[in-house]
Amino acid sequence: MEKVRARSEILRREIQNHDYLYHVLDAPAITDAAYDRLMLELQQLEKEYPELVTPDSPTQRIGGKLREGFVTVRHTVPMLSLSNAFSEQDLREFDRRVQNALRWENKERGHTRIRIGDTPPAEECPQLMNVPNEPNYVVELKIDGLAVSLLYRDGILVRGATRGDGEYGEDITHNLKTVKSIPLRLLEPTVNLEVRGEVYMSKESFLELNRVREERGEALFANPRNAAAGSLRQLDPSITAKRNLSIFVYSAGNVKLPGKQAPDTHVKTLELLDQLGLRVNTHYQLCEDIEEVISYCRLWTYKKAELPYTIDGLVIKVNSLEQQTALGATMKSPRWATALKFPAEEAETTIRDIIVSVGRTGAVTPTAVLEPVTVAGSTISRATLHNEDMIREKDVRIGDRVIIHKAGDVIPEVVRVLVDKRNGSEKEFIMPPACPVCGAEVVRQTGEAAYRCTGAACPAQLLEGLIHFASRGAMDIVGMGPAVVTQLVSAGLVQDVADVYRLTSEQLVELERFADKSAENLIQAIQVSKEEPLHSLLFALGIRHVGERASRILAEHFGDIRRIMDAGAEELTVIPEIGPKIAESVVNFMRQEQNRALIGRLIALGLNVATAHKDESANIDAPLNGQTFVLTGTLPTLKRDEAKELIESRGGKVVSAVSKSTGYVVAGESPGSKYEKAVKLGVTIIGEKELFELTGK
Ligand code: IVH
Repeated sequence: MEKVRARSEILRREIQNHDYLYHVLDAPAITDAAYDRLMLELQQLEKEYPELVTPDSPTQRIGGKLREGFVTVRHTVPMLSLSNAFSEQDLREFDRRVQNALRWENKERGHTRIRIGDTPPAEECPQLMNVPNEPNYVVELKIDGLAVSLLYRDGILVRGATRGDGEYGEDITHNLKTVKSIPLRLLEPTVNLEVRGEVYMSKESFLELNRVREERGEALFANPRNAAAGSLRQLDPSITAKRNLSIFVYSAGNVKLPGKQAPDTHVKTLELLDQLGLRVNTHYQLCEDIEEVISYCRLWTYKKAELPYTIDGLVIKVNSLEQQTALGATMKSPRWATALKFPAEEAETTIRDIIVSVGRTGAVTPTAVLEPVTVAGSTISRATLHNEDMIREKDVRIGDRVIIHKAGDVIPEVVRVLVDKRNGSEKEFIMPPACPVCGAEVVRQTGEAAYRCTGAACPAQLLEGLIHFASRGAMDIVGMGPAVVTQLVSAGLVQDVADVYRLTSEQLVELERFADKSAENLIQAIQVSKEEPLHSLLFALGIRHVGERASRILAEHFGDIRRIMDAGAEELTVIPEIGPKIAESVVNFMRQEQNRALIGRLIALGLNVATAHKDESANIDAPLNGQTFVLTGTLPTLKRDEAKELIESRGGKVVSAVSKSTGYVVAGESPGSKYEKAVKLGVTIIGEKELFELTGK
């Protein structure tokens, strides 16, 4: 037992260290596979010996259960917000207020007024040595995310909370534990402190999340901050875990660090946070005076577009903590800090044209081609128009003068049309009847906002489909990103996803930017991907409406792709969470000859198309194991919930629709249409009495 305990501790430390290297320092030391092996070993040990699980174990990042709601917590020190400055003049004003307040403070304490230049030499005037002098400032980036508080006791993360109204926040510990750059244990085991920081989503993760949501017809997040907030306030931590959130910390409170001095400046606080293993943004500067502050702010106003995350301004803080205390705070915000907010990211320009592009699912998306215009440091020449409905809603026409902005600094969008500036030459946009890439007919299905290309062999769809096939969550082929896929398609090396598995390194080295080693690596990654689980393959195939979750459910239910190929809509709709839309889409996909042939080729190429299936007869105490039931009408004694509970307690499943594979329809008084359907399909119909017999009750 001692050995096992020691091993689990070593594993925890090792994984913790790799999390730190990867997520805080951005310097991974081992491969993902090696990391997964460590994690798997720890998970297995903890599963066998649950008493070994500690709250700071890396396994706890994923292990959260669904919550009923959030518990309200009170912040020991209120989480204030910042006063705003909108111009350089506002910053000089802020500096004047700070200096005045500090001088006043000196006078109050019986000191003379101090100004740089007329300070007497300290040795002549010992009582002035510790007096707050003119302030130095630290300038930091204002990360556009969500403020959180993290409490560490004896180096262990014990609570994480949202800012809420500043006084009361919500306990979101379970969700914050899924953020890999938040250490569950600090590098210093004896420290007690409260850390504050900003949880955010990178521009890249935000775009990817919205891309997937758009494809699934889900509502889009307006900007990365909303996406981060929506992800943190999930009752199901496993959703938060998938969202790729990160953190930058910027303050420490109630610091108790035995044997060490607490920091006395903000810069030292940042250094301490860094030493403790927390993620501190490296873009900050200590400035001598407000003019230096202003030039550093100017720098970031121009450079902010280069950052992989969005910032909505800069934060200016007095460096000395003694001065901070002396300055204090108003009800809402500290007097020792302010935020320089960037101006609204809007610009006026002309729509030169509206073009359409074709995505993986054949969706034909209109895009505005703009007269290039600079918005906050980057030149914009395209803006998404999403779909035809939106064009009609905003009444966007070719030739219009429009206001555009960058949603969350990332995707340029048309905000509104300047109708007054029309001169009559503007042209309405008409969706092209044929795909601009392959010429096939473009149609809009009822109930859908998107138009789709119907061409089965559309090269645009092929390209997007391959990019999706190789992506993370799908076949996860490392090194096969959009640029490489584009090369493969334009060189004519792949016509469908099966061709990927026939590539040779000889073919690859012929391509630009490929050397022997990189070609070898890609071939290796392609071969490795054959072992991806069935649900990844299902997702990778890009069947419409079949996202990651539906893929998992289908893989789990059928266990083999060949069974899914032969499943009918009725059989699919009885599976929990699989609705008629998904069912229809799966049946349609699997019915098409070219898709069946493709799957056949993938099987022949040795891809993993089956999962180890659950042994359904394992539970002998469950006489109804594997049977599905449909309830209809009012039963003589059992309420619907009770009947359901009885069936489920014996291993059966209650579903809502009748199909050929339904085991029994339990009918009571005045049954509905399910009764007739059961008769038509020849499904056994029983009453309550028979149900009791079956369940042995
Ligand atoms: S300091 C007393 N520093 O901006 C306020 N805040 O309204 C201490 N923020 O709620 C905040 N980056 O969510 C500080 N480097 C940074 C920040 C930052 C983003 C957010 C924070 C706060 C809001 C201020």
